[in-house]
Amino acid sequence: MHSIKITEDYYPLAVLFQRCGLEVNPNDNKPEGIVKMWKCEDEETGELIGAATVQLLNGVYVVKHLAIDEEHRKTGIGKILLQLAEEELKNLGASEIWLSGKVPDYYLRFGWEKVQPEDAPSFSKCLKCSQFNQVCFPSIMKKLF
Ligand SMILES: CC(C)(COP(=O)(O)OP(=O)(O)OC[C@H]1O[C@@H](n2cnc3c(N)ncnc32)[C@H](O)[C@@H]1OP(=O)(O)O)[C@@H](O)C(=O)NCCC(=O)NCCS
Repeated sequence: MHSIKITEDYYPLAVLFQRCGLEVNPNDNKPEGIVKMWKCEDEETGELIGAATVQLLNGVYVVKHLAIDEEHRKTGIGKILLQLAEEELKNLGASEIWLSGKVPDYYLRFGWEKVQPEDAPSFSKCLKCSQFNQVCFPSIMKKLF
């Protein structure tokens, strides 16, 4: 069994995000504008098995991080965390929400759509990174409420 809780402690989440292949360095500060973070733990062991964060940056509402430890994937935890993240942004007043994602097919399942980078607001370092669309190919996506 697992439990999902709000957390204020970014560092362990950053370690998980990096382990799951996100462009996160745990030694960096918490990204600017993070408004809520969730952790999913194994109830018996306390092991961190998933996490998500949402961000409000220059008026843009963003699902910033979402990752589930490999051995716990495809059990529905990602879907629950994504729903919590989306609801939080909706409650903050978002009419549209954004992300820069490595697994666009995953988000397409949940009503997100791909957007050309030039049509997106400036919410992600990805858009300005020299690796963007050279060696790293995230999709810029949005969801309308
Ligand atoms: C993407 C990720 C968060 C999905 O989490 P998860 O807990 O395995 O996903 P869920 O179990 O909630 O999956 C929900 C549905 O999406 C499907 N799905 C899971 N991963 C998918 C993927 N990469 N592409 C398309 N569909 C996917 C599942 O099969 C499931 O389908 P079902 O409802 O028909 O059974 C997880 O694979 C992960 O952490 N990946 C590495 C980090 C990463 O890429 N994060 C996203 C960065 S933008």
